[in-house]
Amino acid sequence: MASRRSDRRARAATPEWADGAPLRQALTQRAGDALREGDGAVTRVLEGALRQRERVERATHGFHAYPAGLHPDAAAALLTLGGGPVLDPFCGGGTVLVEALLAGRDALGCDVNPVATLVARARTARTTEAERTAMRSLARKAAELARVAGLANFQSGGRDTGMLRAPVPDLAWDWYDPWAIVELDAIRAHIGNDALARAVFSSILVKVSHRESETANRHEAAARPPTTTATLFHKRAREFGRQLEALEAKAPAGVRARVHREDARELRERGEFGMVVTSPPYPGVYDYLALQQLRLAWMGLDPGLAAHHEVGSRRAFKADRAEAIAAWRLDSARWVRGAARALRPGGRLVVIIGDGIVGGRPVDSIGPLGEAANAEGLVRVARVTVERWDEGAERMRPEHAVVWEKPAAPEPAEPA
Ligand SMILES: C[S@@+](CC[C@H](N)C(=O)[O-])C[C@H]1O[C@@H](n2cnc3c(N)ncnc32)[C@H](O)[C@@H]1O
Repeated sequence: MASRRSDRRARAATPEWADGAPLRQALTQRAGDALREGDGAVTRVLEGALRQRERVERATHGFHAYPAGLHPDAAAALLTLGGGPVLDPFCGGGTVLVEALLAGRDALGCDVNPVATLVARARTARTTEAERTAMRSLARKAAELARVAGLANFQSGGRDTGMLRAPVPDLAWDWYDPWAIVELDAIRAHIGNDALARAVFSSILVKVSHRESETANRHEAAARPPTTTATLFHKRAREFGRQLEALEAKAPAGVRARVHREDARELRERGEFGMVVTSPPYPGVYDYLALQQLRLAWMGLDPGLAAHHEVGSRRAFKADRAEAIAAWRLDSARWVRGAARALRPGGRLVVIIGDGIVGGRPVDSIGPLGEAANAEGLVRVARVTVERWDEGAERMRPEHAVVWEKPAAPEPAEPA
């Protein structure tokens, strides 16, 4: 007998395409849960990218969780669809940027979320052996100090917090054992502004808390004995050192990724990029900023732009669905215009995105993007949609991968 889940899979409708942009090669195929349209070789790459699942740890990908990360193999595959420097205007934790470096291509990533830019910068840092050694030594000393402080606090029954070096965020007392707070405080004070060590500190903040996961803001009652925080911090710093070394071994010297804290709807780049490869927020699925509450508080990060400029935020869709859908159209038009301008003639825009599900009802993500691409004169090369099971929403969700191309500049006219 078929399971409830596979019944639901079978019933899920294949979505219709909504944009009507010109397609270079019109060939539509529906097979099982996939819809493929356009250039056959490109659709194979897109479908492969959408179906990636295996965990990948190469270079710095395994360092620091970030919600809704693109699969590294998907990013690597998408990058084969064009050449030249790469722009990811919604770079999140920097998966596309790391893969660009590994492929020997310069890259630029933008994100409004300060945790995203911190993670993306750390994952793409080009480092020397001396810098990695310095980071590890700093982390070892910080962990030693934290262990002493954590044990003293534990032995006082959690009451002795007299050693705190800097103000601890109020919300910390709801999410951490007192000895974990004391250990985090000691680490934070010792590492100061060292960017690599701060990224390691950021990477452990959810793990050593009583928060259920990176994407679930629920309390869980797990045992976190004293010195767990210090030990994890030191272990992560050593791992990160090895990951950075692996990145150096594989990425050609001189290739760089820049990361800007910038609104994707206000891109200023013009004609520099061979590709824009990105996975924007799905409409109404996450509040990326709210998910980073613990990190923002512990690290004194300013939410800045992200407080009001997050595209497709869940809170906006919950507040007023119709208004949020209208904003999605406008935001899509704005960032696609910026992406089109950032591309060289002949360059490609590659997008992976899923539809939203808000209040049990689907929200089309791709139609407005197609309209925006069409309005900018981009030509669609290929697109694939697959249906994927969404655990949270308990239903199938269409996910799309689309490639558009900026037409090559016209040849100059022959002199008469
Ligand atoms: C799906 S995630 C990207 C994940 C990324 N591909 C990775 O592998 O980690 C979408 C990102 O878009 C960012 N974002 C939302 N609104 C933005 C805006 N207006 N400008 C730039 N980034 C934005 C969010 O902060 C989030 O990091």
